[in-house]
Amino acid sequence: MRKILLGLSSLIAGVMIFYLFQPQVAVAEDFQQPIAFSHKTHASDNKVPCEFCHIYARRSNSSGIPPLVTCNQCHSVIKGTKDDQKKEIKKIEEYWNKKQPVPWKKIHDLPDFVHFSHKRHVQAGFDCTECHGEISNLDVITMDDMKADLSMGWCVDCHKKEHITSGDKVIGQVRETRGGPVVQNAPQPKQDGTLQGSKDCYICHK
Ligand code: HEC
Ligand code: HEC
Ligand code: HEC
Ligand code: HEC
Ligand code: HEC
Repeated sequence: MRKILLGLSSLIAGVMIFYLFQPQVAVAEDFQQPIAFSHKTHASDNKVPCEFCHIYARRSNSSGIPPLVTCNQCHSVIKGTKDDQKKEIKKIEEYWNKKQPVPWKKIHDLPDFVHFSHKRHVQAGFDCTECHGEISNLDVITMDDMKADLSMGWCVDCHKKEHITSGDKVIGQVRETRGGPVVQNAPQPKQDGTLQGSKDCYICHK
């Protein structure tokens, strides 16, 4: 009995120490979305490609958050198995009936004086995970989960790197959903086959 108690108290102490030494994370409520949408359920368990929902990633500056029509392609039929799933999925129908878009909270937000384009990076061959980390493992996205901190140093460090290419695309692990043609005015890789971003201030600060 004593042994068990001892084991138990050291377990509790262990758990406490674990929490004490966790890096500061933003409060969960900050990221509470109107519908408990999970990237894990969709992108991982059900293998829905990122670009099925974020259709603008390869076409424009912004990737965009999908409208309700996208959700309804499945959820007009899929109503959920467990009670909490049913409750959350029902909200899709409610917003739809009210003709209201879902007020998703924006998580990533670069200052307005910075110019960033998804198209340029996605078409150069970078995978979403290169910048966003393994979002498909997350139930809730918070800024802390992002691989990078959206700082100028992060952008410039990557622009300094000489990315090795093949067929004008950066070589690296790429999801099956990647791979449109390279944009027309994209600079060709250098003679040695590497591709680099620019370090000129005006490229990012137009
Ligand atoms: C079934 C549709 C769907 C799929 C598939 C999907 N997403 Fe999302 N994504 C959403 C919705 C809805 C939101 C807004 C709610 C949220 O933040 O969780 C979102 C939010 C995001 C955000 C944060 C947006 C912000 O405000 O900063 C990122 C980054 C993102 N998705 C990347 C990805 C990546 C990478 C993949 C593939 C691994 C992916 N998504 C697959 C629907 C989807
Ligand atoms: C390609 C099909 C597909 C699309 C598109 C889709 N979902 Fe789902 N969704 C599913 C499946 C499959 C489940 C799991 C259902 C189950 O386990 O019974 C699910 C589950 C859910 C759940 C329940 C919670 C959970 O994680 O299991 C919510 C909430 C949800 N989806 C919201 C959305 C929203 C919001 C959109 C649009 C941005 C969307 N879904 C788009 C297929 C889809
Ligand atoms: C080179 C890095 C990089 C790559 C690659 C990348 N993203 Fe992003 N993503 C960003 C940055 C930076 C932001 C913040 C943009 C802002 O705030 O204006 C962002 C924001 C987003 C958002 C929030 C909405 C928006 O567009 O601002 C979504 C959704 C998203 N990314 C999805 C994706 C998906 C899906 C892919 C892959 C097809 C992808 N991203 C590839 C860097 C990247
Ligand atoms: C994963 C590496 C990587 C990261 C991170 C990254 N970039 Fe890039 N970026 C590149 C590469 C490589 C190119 C050149 C691709 C091309 O021109 O086709 C590029 C091109 C660009 C361009 C296009 C230049 C032009 O001539 O229009 C802009 C603008 C840009 N990046 C801004 C940013 C900003 C802002 C950030 C940070 C928020 C960022 N990038 C983060 C690798 C990266
Ligand atoms: C590859 C993209 C990129 C390039 C190149 C770049 N910047 Fe930035 N810059 C950024 C981003 C992203 C931020 C926003 C950082 C943040 O919000 O913390 C930023 C922020 C800034 C700020 C505001 C700093 C602050 O503390 O708020 C100044 C000033 C600045 N940049 C000047 C420059 C100058 C000067 C150059 C050329 C030597 C340059 N930048 C080149 C991406 C870039």
